[in-house]
Amino acid sequence: MNDMLLERTHYCAQVGTLAAGEQVIVAGWVRKRRDLGHLVFVDLYDRTGILQVVFDPERTPDLHRVGGDLGRESVITVSGTVSERPVDALNPSMATGQVELIADRLTVHSTSKVPPIHLTGGSEANEELRLKYRYLDLRRPEMFRIIDLRHRTSQLTRSFYSSEGFIEVTTPYLMRSTPEGARDFLVPSRLHKGMCYALPQSPQMLKQILMISGVDRYFQIVKCFRDEDSRADRQPEFSQIDVEMSFTRMDTLFDIHERLMQTIFKEAIGVDIPRPFQRMTWKTAMERYGSDKPDLRFGLEIRDITRLMIGSGIGFIDSTAAEGGVVRALVYPGGSILSRKQVSELEQVAKTRGAAGMIAVKVESGNELSGGAIGKMLSSDRKQEVIASLGANAGDLLCIVAGNAMIVANSLGAIRLEIARREKMMTEEFRFLWVTEFPLLEYNEEDGRFYAMHHPFTSPMDEDIDWLDKEPGRCRAKAYDLVLNGIEIGGGSVRIHRADVQTRMFDVLGINACKAEEQFGFFLEALRYGTPPHCGIAFGLDRLVMTLAGTDNLRDVIAFPKTLQAVCMMTQAPSSVTNDQLNIVGLQKKSDKNDKTDDCA
Ligand code: AMO
Repeated sequence: MNDMLLERTHYCAQVGTLAAGEQVIVAGWVRKRRDLGHLVFVDLYDRTGILQVVFDPERTPDLHRVGGDLGRESVITVSGTVSERPVDALNPSMATGQVELIADRLTVHSTSKVPPIHLTGGSEANEELRLKYRYLDLRRPEMFRIIDLRHRTSQLTRSFYSSEGFIEVTTPYLMRSTPEGARDFLVPSRLHKGMCYALPQSPQMLKQILMISGVDRYFQIVKCFRDEDSRADRQPEFSQIDVEMSFTRMDTLFDIHERLMQTIFKEAIGVDIPRPFQRMTWKTAMERYGSDKPDLRFGLEIRDITRLMIGSGIGFIDSTAAEGGVVRALVYPGGSILSRKQVSELEQVAKTRGAAGMIAVKVESGNELSGGAIGKMLSSDRKQEVIASLGANAGDLLCIVAGNAMIVANSLGAIRLEIARREKMMTEEFRFLWVTEFPLLEYNEEDGRFYAMHHPFTSPMDEDIDWLDKEPGRCRAKAYDLVLNGIEIGGGSVRIHRADVQTRMFDVLGINACKAEEQFGFFLEALRYGTPPHCGIAFGLDRLVMTLAGTDNLRDVIAFPKTLQAVCMMTQAPSSVTNDQLNIVGLQKKSDKNDKTDDCA
């Protein structure tokens, strides 16, 4: 084969570092063309940057003609000589702005239709259009920067774990369906008609089985699949940095992962992260910050004022207290100047979290409170105590919510974030936090049963294990999350390593022996063959890269993401399939008049 393709010797950005007179070959896309006087200037770009190429009619008349016809986004290879730009043509805003390439050969590989989105500047184009033409969107330097950052994060992760004695083991994607939390994506089987594989929500049981196998320290950068409603920080298909280790204390796991985060932040974005990371129990996080993933870049702590409010004579507060509820408050610094509309928007935030309402009280000078029943009915002494216990000052606004402890926490937690957003309190720093001692179980009123808060393989805390049979809701778990600036970037736990305890746990979850055998038999059996004590964690790689990249949109850090409706705009997945395809796997379509798939078959 006589392949005549001229191969690049340098990327565009590298040419900026070369001396005048060097011969180079560069390749890429045409960003823009200017015809100035008799010269043609073309901005050529590749993933590293832009380089100005000059076509001079006196040196290369034929080339100058072709260069003069180059359209935007045409793909070319150019060879030429590096030249210093004349002083009046220096461009300090461009990394290669002191040089240009005087072309002597040009190959035009292909031309381009007019791009439907801008390939320079920010991401102001409609996101659906960006996702449809993702290949063009990814040509934007900002997007390449993130792809590269993600690559480096993965590389740093792999080399960090390898140096700590972890082994990367690949686990299968075609698995059996197990009820783990979210809904499974199913893959029908051709060889076993009517049966399905499930795509793993995480390799949880497999990594635990690897501990039984003696792998001892496992990690994997792995895809996970969950058929749940998407949100800004959730994708149906996402990546985890997944880890499991045997014979290790939780503190050692924390230490290793604090160092992993330090390494990634230092090497990937040049930021020093102080250690050790702060730790906080779930109970404290909920009470003080109204969230199990508190953003600690700002204070705005929630305080309990139930004791100070009891007996105030304010009807619903007294009844809340009588029903075992709580009254908690948050200080909005300087918030007394808010308009009625702004206050009612805050109240709306509380209501969407289930609160009956929010009482807004202004702090006046002289320890006075004004606004609503609290201003009128609370004694001066009580007012003073409330102001002192909240550390409030004249001009502040107190946001008070009463009711069930969980609803109050969630409502004030959401108000806290809203205040921070409005007042721009979210700084550029990175605040890591371990949240520990999560409840083991969550009670679901609707079906009257307990669900595992993390997953069913999480160990109860030793001191709480006896509650498992008596009052399961009181059990705390050896579970932990790593939170960064209010985002849960990782979660894990110490596992149950005894088959009898695991069976008890299934029992509490309403999975009887027969069901447990049917759904988890292979796992319970494995646990009986010598299981070491083990613990693990998984980090959301996408969420981690999202914080490193400084974006708040998970889709920005995934090359080909799905929309909130779980659609790939570029390929239009999911798509309908033909009856033939379904027959092969033993499935049948429900009749749908609009389905035209078989018309094309
Ligand atoms: P968990 O379900 O907490 O734990 O997931 C671990 C981390 O994965 C990320 N994550 C997601 N990222 C994007 N889109 C999603 N839909 C999504 N769901 C989760 C989060 C989360 O902290 N097997 C256990 C881990 C263990 O116990 O070792 C697990 O999967 O950052």
